Amino acid sequence: MRLLVTGGAGFIGSHFVRSLLADDDPRTVTVLDLLTYAGNRANLASVADDPRLTFVHGDIRDRPLVDSLLAEHDAVVHFAAESHVDRSIASGTDFVSTNVLGTQTLLESALHHGIDRFVHISTDEVYGSIESGSWTEEQPLAPNSPYSASKAGSDLLALAYHRTHGLDVRITRCSNNYGPYQHPEKVVPLFTTRLLDGGRVPLYGDGKNSRDWLHVDDHCRAVRLVLDAGRAGEIYHIGGGTELTNRELTERLLQACGRTWDSVDHVTDRPGHDLRYSVDWSKARDELGYRPHHDLAPGLAETVDWYRTHRDWWQETAR
Ligand SMILES: NC(=O)c1ccc[n+]([C@@H]2O[C@H](COP(=O)([O-])OP(=O)(O)OC[C@H]3O[C@@H](n4cnc5c(N)ncnc54)[C@H](O)[C@@H]3O)[C@@H](O)[C@H]2O)c1
Repeated sequence: MRLLVTGGAGFIGSHFVRSLLADDDPRTVTVLDLLTYAGNRANLASVADDPRLTFVHGDIRDRPLVDSLLAEHDAVVHFAAESHVDRSIASGTDFVSTNVLGTQTLLESALHHGIDRFVHISTDEVYGSIESGSWTEEQPLAPNSPYSASKAGSDLLALAYHRTHGLDVRITRCSNNYGPYQHPEKVVPLFTTRLLDGGRVPLYGDGKNSRDWLHVDDHCRAVRLVLDAGRAGEIYHIGGGTELTNRELTERLLQACGRTWDSVDHVTDRPGHDLRYSVDWSKARDELGYRPHHDLAPGLAETVDWYRTHRDWWQETAR
């Protein structure tokens, strides 16, 4: 199988590519990535010489380029997106352009070229916020940020290409990922790198916003299960199993970095900040045998250690 991985130079996409190639998987992989501020070729340095990997610097919105690539591939795993909520609040333009139009360009081209499978990577944020309990895959979408609205738009387009045209589309919606190689704009690396540098960290509002934390390695293993054994037209939730308030997460990161609450600034809450996300991932467990392998405590400790020992990577990335 010839796999096109969009956004494969970003945080999650690069982990997916590195782990696939590390497993002696017979598939060839083409990464299509625009290398925005969030994409980094260094994320693929450890597999750059692998003959199964080809890197293409380009835009998922470029239909002739996408057509030329999809003519040579059997399956797509689509990670590419504008992914940071705060940036979408500052301006939603790139979010709609890449997340909605970019996804539509890929879907249209996939249909045209008879692509066998299209895995669309989405997010639990498309559902809005839930006070208690967990969403199943049947939950109606109610996104609150321009980011989550653009992801919801892309999900609906993906499902429409399945229902209207019979394209084999599979959607994953996961919770908050953490792990190495995450851009320092996101909360875990932002707090970790600032605390390691002796700096201060901003905690939104009362810190009671709650998230389920998923190790990027568990997420990527689940994406492979969906690619290999999922069903066409289906949505699969992927969770990590440990829910923390932002306050609890901050406490853990302070401890891991040997710092105290004196380093925390309480800042005005993010507009439209969802209080809580929680996905019920029993469908992925029961159908695909998915379960997370990484417990949060050691996973977070290893992640902090990675940033501690990869200062060059994040200092270069944050520039
Ligand atoms: N990080 C999380 O916790 C999380 C949670 C749920 C869902 N997701 C989803 O997972 C996917 C990957 O997220 P991430 O955290 O790795 O994001 P990221 O921002 O780290 O990486 C995105 C990648 O997409 C590339 N890209 C952006 N626009 C492009 C375009 N027009 N054409 C080609 N490439 C382009 C960037 O260069 C970058 O390499 C996204 O679809 C995101 O919505 C992420």
